Amino acid sequence: MTKQINIKEALDWYIWAGIVETCGDFACIEENKTSTEPIIRKEENIQPVKQNLESSAVKNAKDLCNNISTLSELFEALNKFNGCNLKNTAASTVIGEGNHNADIMFIGEAPGADEDKMGKPFVGKCGKLLDKMLSAIDLNRDDCYITNVLPWRPPGNRTPTDDELAICLPFLKKQIELIKPKVIVLLGGIALKSLMDSNDSISRTRGKWLEYECEANKSICTIATYHPSFLLRSSSQKSRAWADFLRLKNKINELEVD
Ligand code: URA
Repeated sequence: MTKQINIKEALDWYIWAGIVETCGDFACIEENKTSTEPIIRKEENIQPVKQNLESSAVKNAKDLCNNISTLSELFEALNKFNGCNLKNTAASTVIGEGNHNADIMFIGEAPGADEDKMGKPFVGKCGKLLDKMLSAIDLNRDDCYITNVLPWRPPGNRTPTDDELAICLPFLKKQIELIKPKVIVLLGGIALKSLMDSNDSISRTRGKWLEYECEANKSICTIATYHPSFLLRSSSQKSRAWADFLRLKNKINELEVD
């Protein structure tokens, strides 16, 4: 006899276990199981999958990017690329947005739930805070280009794995090469780690001017600061982020950036 699932008990269990959101409209249970067989959840598939750094996925991403010369080609390639497991659970591929001729580029970590739903970067609570931070130094979204290290939301906003970062990095580097910003702002530790290949903590590195070595032997002034989501949780750090934004403002004036 097939055992009926008690929906209320199952939901109580999910709540008890700390599950606060679902990734899709359907339960992830393998089909064709009899009641005596163990149920294997497909959710296991959304756990970080160990992908070899020298895997074909990284090589594929690099090869694809080598043949790209416009942003629309880049976005088309990202939409077709299936080498990163994060795409399997994300609702959207969230590409960069803003002024394609911008001198200032902001790089966040990955889309959150709102961005995944809307298909645009920084449209949720973090985006609202970022807008306020921009306007405090007389900038708005039309003055800059905003993107993320990862174009796909990690399930449940988990920290991306090194493999996922390595697979997505060629696409980010290509965006930088095509936008050609004069200043890059890294929002949070993941952006710092990924682009600058740095293991230094964000709290020690933030506020210092760094040089990002772009493909064409050009270096770009780069500064890291706290991610808006961290500031929403730790408002005592807002003054530090404000100091970083003032450094950014000074650099913009110094470089006579548009
Ligand atoms: N956090 C990010 O890093 N990027 C977004 O687009 C939204 C939240």
